[in-house]
Amino acid sequence: MKILSKNGDKIEFLAAPGEDGLRRGDYVIVSDGGKKLLVQILDVNYAELPGILEDTLRELASEPLSLKIFDPYDVGSILTELKDSRLIVGKVRGVVEDGSLRNDLLWLPSRLESRIERASPELIMELSSSAGRRPIIIGESMNGIISINAEDLDGRLTIITGKKETGKSHLAKILITSLAEYGAKVIALDVNGEYIGLSMRIDGALSDVADKHVVLTPGENFRVSMEDAGLATITDILRYILNTPATSLREFIRLWRLVKKVNGKVTLRGLIDAIGRVQLHESVRDALMSRLLSLEATRFFDDENPVKIDSMINSVKEGGIFVINLSKISSHGRRIVVEYVLSKLSTLLRDGLIDPLFLLAEEAHLYLRETYWDDLITRMRHIGIFPILVTNQPDTIPETIYRQADNIFLFNFTNESDLNYISKTARIDSDTVKLIAKALPPRHCLMIGRIVNDLPIVVKVREMPLKMLGETKLVFGLRG
Ligand SMILES: Nc1ncnc2c1ncn2[C@@H]1O[C@H](COP(=O)(O)OP(=O)(O)OP(=O)(O)O)[C@@H](O)[C@H]1O
Ligand SMILES: [Mg+2]
Repeated sequence: MKILSKNGDKIEFLAAPGEDGLRRGDYVIVSDGGKKLLVQILDVNYAELPGILEDTLRELASEPLSLKIFDPYDVGSILTELKDSRLIVGKVRGVVEDGSLRNDLLWLPSRLESRIERASPELIMELSSSAGRRPIIIGESMNGIISINAEDLDGRLTIITGKKETGKSHLAKILITSLAEYGAKVIALDVNGEYIGLSMRIDGALSDVADKHVVLTPGENFRVSMEDAGLATITDILRYILNTPATSLREFIRLWRLVKKVNGKVTLRGLIDAIGRVQLHESVRDALMSRLLSLEATRFFDDENPVKIDSMINSVKEGGIFVINLSKISSHGRRIVVEYVLSKLSTLLRDGLIDPLFLLAEEAHLYLRETYWDDLITRMRHIGIFPILVTNQPDTIPETIYRQADNIFLFNFTNESDLNYISKTARIDSDTVKLIAKALPPRHCLMIGRIVNDLPIVVKVREMPLKMLGETKLVFGLRG
């Protein structure tokens, strides 16, 4: 392999056929003297040689005649080789000196003298790892084991994205089980009911996280009281989810205070009874009544035997995964539960009643209201809710979130507009995103951001012996 050209951080190599064996995302080292240039491979093409078109056309035309040209010195085979030469496009990630990576785009290694070889997995691991002490093994890369540090997810915004069935939820399970094993608490908003099996292993035995795994099913073992939800949260639910008009909302607030004064405590039944009794404009009465009845229909509210989310979270001492099973309720119900959970968590964190935690949200656009996005990356993050967002439709997450993301696990995407969208992230150049993401096989992802010290790495995600409940149900059972 030889250097052909270098322009800024883009570098091109020429390689003979069979010489490279490189895949997109691999790293090579170009060494010259004591210095080393670290280059990530983005693309492998045929080299454009002058006259190649004419030459190939001539060959095509003579093929049917199978002409044998007298060629005693075997020049033909050299020419054929030349035609198959590869042009390898790479991106310079920096200059390696004394075990660390410097951003020096001006140094030019010699075209003739440089040695070009694959970077060793150890070197890549060393350059990409941070100071953390809690490794999470993600999988394999270039024949080496690749791990990240749990500390690099802590306090950060992480996105897992890729097209359908590429292995996003699987990776999310690896992350949250490892986080919990290190003592972190994770709330998982589970729309498909695929995180409810984490306590079982494939062989039926209990998994390592079995004692840390709590499944909360709204309407069953997860029902909360009106008092606990509080006036502000219930008003938000009425306003944003049930679209209650402003005049009715004002009346509702008055009514809440009235019930509190008369009964000493606010209950859903108490509110519904009061609406029937007090003086209200007919349209307001109807508007409020229908909405409170739909709150009741979710079966999420229970003023008799409510669950307290803070005692639930604090009852698990060393790390926990709290799965909120949203798979059995209506889309309204889902939004109501999430509104309650997020506002409750914010209050509890602000008051110092629970510790900071991770929030795993799959396909969040299905239940997160628009105004919560900004909150998630600013206010909520500040008080200690660290989101891990998972989606197969990248454009359902606002652009600003990508720009602010600290970590991205990018699985395969072929769709150009999806790729354009993701390439807006500030942590990586768009060439890398587009070229590498297209070439990723299933279960492989490109890790971007702090988790890899901003040195993008392709990894084959490892298996996990946990019972996976993510499989799509089929009409004909097992495919095959
Ligand atoms: N690294 C892996 N090792 C073994 N099995 C895997 C791996 N990654 C994914 N799988 C399996 O492949 C299937 C699809 O994976 P997964 O459910 O994680 O995909 P997904 O990207 O979340 O899909 P969707 O977009 O539909 O949610 C699952 O059955 C999962 O168990
Ligand atoms: Mg999934």
